[in-house]
Amino acid sequence: MTQASRDWWRDAVIYQVYIRSFADGNGDGEGDIAGLRERLPYLRDLGIDALWINPWYPSPLNDGGYDVADFRDIDPRFGDLAQAKSLLDEAHGFGLKVLLDIVPNHSSWDHRWFKEALAAGPGSPERARYIFRDGRGDDGELPPNNWRSVFGGPAWERVTEPDGTPGQWYFHIFDVSQPDFDWENPEVRAEFLDILRFWFDLGVDGFRIDVAHGMVKNMDGPDLPYDESGLLDRPSIADHPFFDRDGVHEIYRGWREIADAYDPPKLYVAEAWVEPAERLARYLRDDELHSAFNFDYLKSAWTTAELRRSIDDSVTVLGSVGAPATWVLENHDVERVVTRYGRGVTAAGAGHAGRVSGPVDVELGTQRARAAALLMLALPGGAYVYQGQELGLAEVLDLPEESLQDPVWERSGRTERGRDGCRVPLPWATSGSSYGFGAGGAWLPQPAGWGDRSVEAETGDPGSVLSLYRSALRLRRDIPADESLTWLPSAADVLAFRRGEAFACVVNLGTAPADLPEHREVILSSGPLGPDGRLPGDTAVWLAV
Ligand code: NOJ
Repeated sequence: MTQASRDWWRDAVIYQVYIRSFADGNGDGEGDIAGLRERLPYLRDLGIDALWINPWYPSPLNDGGYDVADFRDIDPRFGDLAQAKSLLDEAHGFGLKVLLDIVPNHSSWDHRWFKEALAAGPGSPERARYIFRDGRGDDGELPPNNWRSVFGGPAWERVTEPDGTPGQWYFHIFDVSQPDFDWENPEVRAEFLDILRFWFDLGVDGFRIDVAHGMVKNMDGPDLPYDESGLLDRPSIADHPFFDRDGVHEIYRGWREIADAYDPPKLYVAEAWVEPAERLARYLRDDELHSAFNFDYLKSAWTTAELRRSIDDSVTVLGSVGAPATWVLENHDVERVVTRYGRGVTAAGAGHAGRVSGPVDVELGTQRARAAALLMLALPGGAYVYQGQELGLAEVLDLPEESLQDPVWERSGRTERGRDGCRVPLPWATSGSSYGFGAGGAWLPQPAGWGDRSVEAETGDPGSVLSLYRSALRLRRDIPADESLTWLPSAADVLAFRRGEAFACVVNLGTAPADLPEHREVILSSGPLGPDGRLPGDTAVWLAV
């Protein structure tokens, strides 16, 4: 195997499949492996390199499957292991790699280990797999400290002991149904090494690691200074007791050995909401993880200053540890980019609180999202596309309250609607009860007019977002693979850079038309150029120079 094919991921475009909302093969209203297998030709033709599939493990789905009840199986609503194997074989046959999502920070409260922990009582080895503590107060009626869940409310929940008395508390960074593992316990560490091997042996090409900056904790840490206005935000303090602790790197060195024992080696992508870029780079050192989502870029406002700073930081700082930059605009946790870029404030908030309010101009947002797609796909390194992003889907902002499933809704006291608006099942056809998603409706209501943004409607329409993505993904293969870029002189509202000697990308983020640098040919453009050949505002071009 050549070095180039071992390093396929360095400039790969990885498509995120939120399986519950991708395509429903069995007509139960929820997406599944059967639906995904049927649509693999669509993904091959789109021109992506790999899929990342969100958790498909048995789960009560209190947090969309990030509450895993069994790490070595598949929830029957999504399929079974035999179907998973067929999916892997078929995807590989199409030249597509497949990454899964591993959730090492916590399990579901339905996991066998957690049930055993509750039954076994204080001080037992079963409880030592999780983080149980006695409460404060005379009768232990107060939580061990003031730490809060990322989803709102306390990060501690009191249990009833097997003898019926009120008992210890367990720690959960996320929902109450997601107890955190104790990663000081060697049994937990060994278990996850085994889980990695289980899926690698089945043929999975790598993992996206959920909350990769979690796991290692200082449970003796002090109470935290919370800001009432930032309910869902983590306080940004140095030496955070449960995020980005140095001890986590030792775990990844062990994981890397497992990945490297395969031929070709397996891949790890970190979901790590850490700042600044230097902290992220620590996860991507030679003997740790391969790649990470670039949330700094995702959160940046649609301005030349923010984007250029983020691009420079990413290329330089990640490059300093030999890692490629990555580019990401959307995922299942944040607002769709068409909506965000259609607002007055275009920067996203942090993590699960990444929603901004205010009126949305969808037409403007779409124009910017098209330009942003060409920018992202011209940059050096890898890129992520979240399902539906290639259709230009907007966030569904008016889901009925009774349909909301994200735990953020309840845990925020119904003040934050949460992330369901970017998880609405995909429209595949212009009409039909679920716009082609499946025969049995859709688990979240799809908005009227959803069919206008369907794969069927956009296929063959040269002006559609889908056609733009297809062209860009095809043409991107000709952009020089060198992982650097050279900025070109440009007006203040314009980003212009060269990759290699013959390719340039120019993006106008302002309102006044901009001159293009000298070029041989316009290869691709996110919107029409002016009659004078100038580049209108919120438009991007790829040039042969
Ligand atoms: C990050 C995932 O992307 C998000 O969807 C989930 O709620 C949390 N981790 C907890 O697992």
